[in-house]
Amino acid sequence: MPPIPKNAVGARFTGWGRALPPKVLTNHDLEAMVETSDQWIRERTGIERRHVGGTTAGLSIQSGRLALAMANVDPLDIDALVLATTTPDRTVPATSATVQLGLGLKCGAFDVNAACSGFVYATVVAHGLIAMGSRKVLLIGTDTLSRVTDWDDRNTAVLFADGSGAAVLEATDGPGQLLAWDLDSDGSAEELLFCDIGGTIFMEGREVFRRAVRIMVDSAEKSMAVAGVGADDIALIVPHQANIRIISAACDRLGIPMARAAVCISETGNTSSASIPLALFDAADGGRVSPGDLVLLVGFGAGMTAASAVIRWGN
Ligand code: ACO
Repeated sequence: MPPIPKNAVGARFTGWGRALPPKVLTNHDLEAMVETSDQWIRERTGIERRHVGGTTAGLSIQSGRLALAMANVDPLDIDALVLATTTPDRTVPATSATVQLGLGLKCGAFDVNAACSGFVYATVVAHGLIAMGSRKVLLIGTDTLSRVTDWDDRNTAVLFADGSGAAVLEATDGPGQLLAWDLDSDGSAEELLFCDIGGTIFMEGREVFRRAVRIMVDSAEKSMAVAGVGADDIALIVPHQANIRIISAACDRLGIPMARAAVCISETGNTSSASIPLALFDAADGGRVSPGDLVLLVGFGAGMTAASAVIRWGN
């Protein structure tokens, strides 16, 4: 992707929130549902438990409300709502319409579907809206994959879950947080990972794994090159939480130690569009990022999509 124009209006995250449904499904619970074991799931994926339940709109309203409160922004001052999701509550209207009503927003609202890369796509879109004159944008990544998971299929049932992460992005007079970004998509890989309307997710796990590492690394390297930064400059990498072995292999190839990775997969499983904001804001709430730190977001997902962004963390 080309560098961001020097005179583009910058933006910063000023508030964020996370939401997980209360119902927890442990690996031991899954042992009673499909032929698997807690040990296999931990060793092969890094997942120990996951949250399931709720609707995409309901979880989005929860995380969005927390983000608005933290940013101390009146819902009426939000200029646009961007909701990243692959599991809308209805085909029409976009789930962002329900979320808009629930949060009391009066602005344009739309969904973005880029599978598990969705939150990074939405982040870039939201920065673009600010460059076009918006002042405050609410962006949310939410998925309720439990509704499209075949709970009799051990290849996928052990992976997927539900959650939501939201952020308020506000225009700033000073330099913005986004230093560089990259969005990729390869439609020729569609048959490796898909869900038909009304159906459940089909995935060729081994091949998705193989490609995931490569496309995450490619995308991250493109963003880092445009930002003019190297692996040593990255204080925190926030990868899509699909499998701890994918995260570890990608970090290894990028030369970023796992100690600098934001990881919450053991508690959340793969929540698709929610995965990166859940990991990022978990790390931020845990004091793992300081003002001025460089944060690398990098996702991949069905499509197959990949996306990355280099962000300089603000106050
Ligand atoms: N429990 C126990 N055994 C299992 C399970 C399970 N849940 N699933 C598969 N196995 C078995 C297989 O049958 C196989 O047995 P065999 O050797 O007797 O044939 C063995 O375990 C190894 O199977 P693999 O498929 O090679 O296992 P792998 O190590 O590749 O792990 C996994 C499978 C976890 C699915 C992995 O391939 C993966 O994570 N792939 C990427 C998935 C991913 O990232 N998806 C998200 C995409 S993002 C989005 O848009 C939703």
